[in-house]
Amino acid sequence: MNLRQNESKRMVLAPAKLNLYLDVFDRREDGYHELETLMVPVRLCDSLTLEPLPLQDRQTPRKIQLSVRPRWDRSAPLDRSRSVPTGSDNLVVRALELLRQRSGCADGARLELIKRIPAAAGLGGGSSDAAAALKLANLAWRLCWDRQRLCRVAEELGSDVPFFLYGGAAICRGRGQLVEKFSSNAPIHFVVVMPAVGLRTVDVYQRLDEQTANQPLRQRFARGLESANSLSHALRRGALAEIGLRMCNRLQAAAESLLPWIELVRRACAQLDFVGHQLSGSGSAYFGVCRHRRHAHRLATILRTRRLGLVLVTRSFS
Ligand code: C5P
Repeated sequence: MNLRQNESKRMVLAPAKLNLYLDVFDRREDGYHELETLMVPVRLCDSLTLEPLPLQDRQTPRKIQLSVRPRWDRSAPLDRSRSVPTGSDNLVVRALELLRQRSGCADGARLELIKRIPAAAGLGGGSSDAAAALKLANLAWRLCWDRQRLCRVAEELGSDVPFFLYGGAAICRGRGQLVEKFSSNAPIHFVVVMPAVGLRTVDVYQRLDEQTANQPLRQRFARGLESANSLSHALRRGALAEIGLRMCNRLQAAAESLLPWIELVRRACAQLDFVGHQLSGSGSAYFGVCRHRRHAHRLATILRTRRLGLVLVTRSFS
């Protein structure tokens, strides 16, 4: 964990993620879809600072106070679907309330969240913030819970939250909460393009269901030749051409039908020599894999001239 601390405050970086592989299978009885995904954390990070507020009179639980400071790139106009909740519906506050409920701890916390990861982008910003909050409170409130125990709270908050508790690249299965880490030390360089408009995960999954409703069960969400395991081997070897071949995102067509902007970016990326390019998660952020840092900056400069949205260069966070 990327932790900085002094006597009263602890600060942790909460990285965004990119899905290099996302296959979706049938809807489960709990309403979620079974999936297999390979995710890589990247250096685009929020930061979360926590100052504990210890219980004073043994009666009244202390408050959980959150202030959010957006640090958006000024060149990026963001619509209201991107605004981050600051009150009790922020995932950071929900994470700490749930942790208090499960642990019986009545201490409070004063939190400051610096937001750089846009919401509704498929970059996992809210989930990463929640995982950061669980890690910080576990230390600050001296709970000493192991990761498995924290993960049980994390998966109640969202399918991607356990991934961020583990840190590093991983393959996730189930509804996303079953995390299998793998080591991938070779840095990967990315260009990420973000539109002004976000997409809600629930809407994209619903559109996928509509698009596949009339297909025979055997053909729905059919597993391709690619698999997350082969991609993880390619990543470990730094075999870029194979990474490009094995990338896939089963939610992309559904997301494109909700937001035609994605098709525009896909077409723009297809004209450039990316190793591979696709939507991250349920979108709306779109990214390309590059051969090295200079390659990423060159392609980002070209994409910026197309005025498709905010264009960032980032790399994997190992
Ligand atoms: O778990 P999370 O809160 O991130 O999921 C948001 C929504 O995305 C769910 O309510 C569900 O509609 C959809 N989803 C799904 N299958 C998954 C993950 C998410 O259908 N494995």
